[in-house]
Amino acid sequence: MPRVFRYGLYGVGRIGRVHGQIVKEQGHAIAAIGDEVLVAAEEARHALGEPSAPVFDDPTAMLADSPLDAVIISSHTKDHARDARPFVEAGIPVYLEKPLTSDLPEAFDFVESVGTDRTIIQIGLQRRFDEALRHAKQLLDGGLIGDIREIRSILRDQYPPPPTYTSRGLIIDMGIHVADEAIWLLGEYPDEVWARMYNAKQYDSPVDEGGNTAFVGFTTKAGTIGRLDLSRTHASGYNNETYVIGTEGTLHVGRFSGYPGPIPVELWTNEGELHEASTVFDMTTFDGDYAEFQPRFHRAYQRAHRGFRDAVDSGQPFAVTQNDVLSAQVFVEAAHLSALEEGKGRRFDHSDDVREFRRLTTVNGLLA
Ligand SMILES: NC(=O)c1ccc[n+]([C@@H]2O[C@H](COP(=O)([O-])OP(=O)(O)OC[C@H]3O[C@@H](n4cnc5c(N)ncnc54)[C@H](O)[C@@H]3O)[C@@H](O)[C@H]2O)c1
Repeated sequence: MPRVFRYGLYGVGRIGRVHGQIVKEQGHAIAAIGDEVLVAAEEARHALGEPSAPVFDDPTAMLADSPLDAVIISSHTKDHARDARPFVEAGIPVYLEKPLTSDLPEAFDFVESVGTDRTIIQIGLQRRFDEALRHAKQLLDGGLIGDIREIRSILRDQYPPPPTYTSRGLIIDMGIHVADEAIWLLGEYPDEVWARMYNAKQYDSPVDEGGNTAFVGFTTKAGTIGRLDLSRTHASGYNNETYVIGTEGTLHVGRFSGYPGPIPVELWTNEGELHEASTVFDMTTFDGDYAEFQPRFHRAYQRAHRGFRDAVDSGQPFAVTQNDVLSAQVFVEAAHLSALEEGKGRRFDHSDDVREFRRLTTVNGLLA
């Protein structure tokens, strides 16, 4: 029998409650609930059916008063590193929502101080656990479309974020999902990026993210060409698609087919035919209210939490860590700055050595 984890939840808006519900359904205990806005923690306690869970408005107090096996942090992006630090220092395994922070120097400071060990923090980049994208990754790694020429990753929300949401910009907060997806699927790092940000028509949001639509183009040292399409204005439903064009075929994941709807993974051969490795995955349907991203990624969140606990129990590395999100964060910072400069190209370089990575990022003018 797997052991029951005693979870702390810190930051319990939309996604914090989703995570709490999932780990509860998976048979684990909610031992403490925290949020800098105490009323949010109290609301979450009731929404999660945990009326006697103690509530806190400070991560250090929550840590001091609660015996925890793990913590899930889903506070505002700008507070992620600050809120994670006490738990990391106390040796509590942390599931931390993306991005690492909204501020790139702080992200480097954080990774430099906590280190690059892959058993400390799992990041909430759930695409790494998504069945459809994992199937696609296997097909790519198996060489079924040959050498990759081009990738295009699309992430389009149907609705604006809630009024409580804070964001330094659409490309940083939303783009990090597909920036990481592209790096993961390609197995290589971009080194040049351009981006433009737009305001599509008739959109009304309580949150200023610098625009509601962005296009990010990039290239890699190996000559792969890529594009990320981001928006909050896809009127017919939450839309996640990935096209990968290779020398021997094309892979298309998530062709929009209604929401919630099927998730096709279509592998097209160089004869123009559908390959037998093509398949279809299902979204999850919910009764009542749900956050727009839940049908598409519910199973990925479930798998992410199972993977997190398995890694904690076995001492194995987490599948996606502070190191991976830092790489994606440099990519989106370069894209964000490019968008502020009306699409001027920005270069960047990667290193697995975090100090060297910081030096290169400074030289490239991204840490000014
Ligand atoms: N991995 C994913 O798919 C995913 C999806 C959504 C958000 N996120 C990330 O998670 C973090 C939190 O995002 P979110 O969508 O949960 O934001 P949110 O605005 O719902 O919650 C953020 C904060 O706002 C406050 N708040 C929220 N609801 C409140 C209420 N009813 N009353 C009082 N205060 C309230 C709380 O302080 C809460 O911690 C962000 O960093 C975001 O990037 C990840």
